Amino acid sequence: MIISVPKETFPGERRVALTPSRLAALTKAGLSVQIESGAGEAAGFPDDAYRSRNATIVADRGSLLAGGDVILQVRTPGANPHRGPTDIAHYKAGALVIGFAEPLTQPAITQAMAQRGVTLLAVELIPRISRAQSMDALSSMASIAGYKSVLLAANELARLFPMMMTAAGTITPAKVLVIGAGVAGLQAIATARRLGAVVSAYDVRPAVKEQILSLGAKFIELPLETGDAQTAGGYAKEQSAEQQRRQRELMAGAVREADVVISTAAVPGKKAPVLITADMVRGMRPGSVIIDLAAATGGNCELTRADERVETDGVCILGPTNLPSTLAFHASELYSNNLCQLLLHLVKDGKLVFDQNDPISRDSMVTRDGQVVNATVSGSWGAAIKPEVKEPT
Ligand code: NAI
Repeated sequence: MIISVPKETFPGERRVALTPSRLAALTKAGLSVQIESGAGEAAGFPDDAYRSRNATIVADRGSLLAGGDVILQVRTPGANPHRGPTDIAHYKAGALVIGFAEPLTQPAITQAMAQRGVTLLAVELIPRISRAQSMDALSSMASIAGYKSVLLAANELARLFPMMMTAAGTITPAKVLVIGAGVAGLQAIATARRLGAVVSAYDVRPAVKEQILSLGAKFIELPLETGDAQTAGGYAKEQSAEQQRRQRELMAGAVREADVVISTAAVPGKKAPVLITADMVRGMRPGSVIIDLAAATGGNCELTRADERVETDGVCILGPTNLPSTLAFHASELYSNNLCQLLLHLVKDGKLVFDQNDPISRDSMVTRDGQVVNATVSGSWGAAIKPEVKEPT
């Protein structure tokens, strides 16, 4: 079986889907790897690092894709909607394509993938269950984003993060508020604590309180009627407009007090909840910083502009959408490990086996045998686009 790894074509994307350190495990499983020339360069992995571990370097992208039984990508066409679709015609019918795919928001591209006859596994749909932790690319990338968000904030802030007692006077530590304590939020808390900030955090899921406390941060208790805020899968449920309004009202004081707000509140498949209004920003001290990690899905702050810097009343708001790419070496290492764990989970005696009773392949599979086979995906597309949904074979 041949594994093909093309160079990423999304603007600014520096990651690569497979790093040289994973080649030995794939070779041991009887898989051969070919990689597009220069694919790993921006992440710090030159062609020679792959060549010396028995991968074949291929210059022509079309033949690389056409020759792959399995294609590993960071961004499959759905997650690279302007440049990615030109790859679709090159995929071999029946090939397995694995990567980020944005199937919930890209119906036309997802259907084109189905029509091409490829089996598409969208890594963002891998269930957050213990068995799949090592394959959970959404988590590994969110963790990197949480870490980097704090570095960006520290870089913008004209204050120091840690308390410092110097001969010239004592500096009080920066106050950091983290909204949403999932994977990115917890990593942001840990990073801000390591830098010496005083950190407080809020999440609608009370279950995360202990994790916040264990990282040395304060959990903000809001007298909010959130009901059963968590799904069986451990994700937040979407709050009503009234609950969000009340949350903003109750959180306004904590936002006003903060030097830095890192917002990561998200509900899978939904627009990000708006938790920081323009008025709340106006109430912050000049020089304060907001890093809105939810910018790609609309932002937690009303004033966020994706990948832009907004300055208003002396407050700086950044909404970076691809922080993992800024730490491309380690992001690629972790992502590559996620994909290899998934691939090796599917390979039995040198063949790909998709077990319908296995939640990992069942939930992440989007297309197979010419059809969109994921009811969650097609169900999210609305009445206008309703492809025939077929169960995987
Ligand atoms: P997650 O699902 O693990 O965490 C989101 C958290 O938000 C959950 O704990 C949830 O309970 C909480 N939440 C939901 N509604 C809330 C509300 N109204 N108030 C307070 N908390 C609320 O998600 P993860 O993986 O940590 O990602 C967080 C965000 O970061 C997502 O929007 C994701 O797309 C984004 N992200 C951004 C990256 C970037 O480079 N900008 C990279 C990776 C992820």
